[in-house]
Amino acid sequence: MTFPAELLRKDDTALCLFCAAFGGRQDAVFLRDAGLRDVTCVDIDGEKLNAMKPNFPTSWGWRQGDAFAVIDETVTQWDVVTVDAWSNLEDQVLSRFDKLLSMTKRVLVVGVSMPRLEAMGIDPSRASSSLLGHNVTFRKRSSYLGGTYWIVMEKTSHA
Ligand SMILES: C[S@@+](CC[C@H](N)C(=O)[O-])C[C@H]1O[C@@H](n2cnc3c(N)ncnc32)[C@H](O)[C@@H]1O
Repeated sequence: MTFPAELLRKDDTALCLFCAAFGGRQDAVFLRDAGLRDVTCVDIDGEKLNAMKPNFPTSWGWRQGDAFAVIDETVTQWDVVTVDAWSNLEDQVLSRFDKLLSMTKRVLVVGVSMPRLEAMGIDPSRASSSLLGHNVTFRKRSSYLGGTYWIVMEKTSHA
């Protein structure tokens, strides 16, 4: 199981945070391949950002900078928000989960490692779990660090 590409719609807007290290292989390529045209990519590494740009639509936006500042300062909403920070930044990401949800209209996708899930007493093999008070599902994406997962939260009109 990997990125929840089946939840994407062509006309979705998206914010792809921490997008660059692997050329977007873990997230941005799924947004591109689903046909999204209005995507903003953010990473602190300008070189990696520049290197990946040619592989993505010219309609996409690129922002070099601190993704945490983007999260903390933004008042905009996107249909889809993806967050793929290094594992040593997971606590900083998860402490902003409610803010990330408020920035998301439909689908929030956040990377997390097995050790972090274990520390929260969460078993990602269950069909769904409660995380920080929200009903979420998990997609395994690699075996690195004993397993890394996407937390997937699909917002309903009640969420
Ligand atoms: C797991 S990698 C992302 C991989 C990427 N999603 C891909 O598929 O290629 C984590 C990324 O976080 C970026 N990063 C680290 N600290 C950051 C920060 N404070 N703000 C924005 N990006 C940051 C790194 O440059 C790196 O590209």
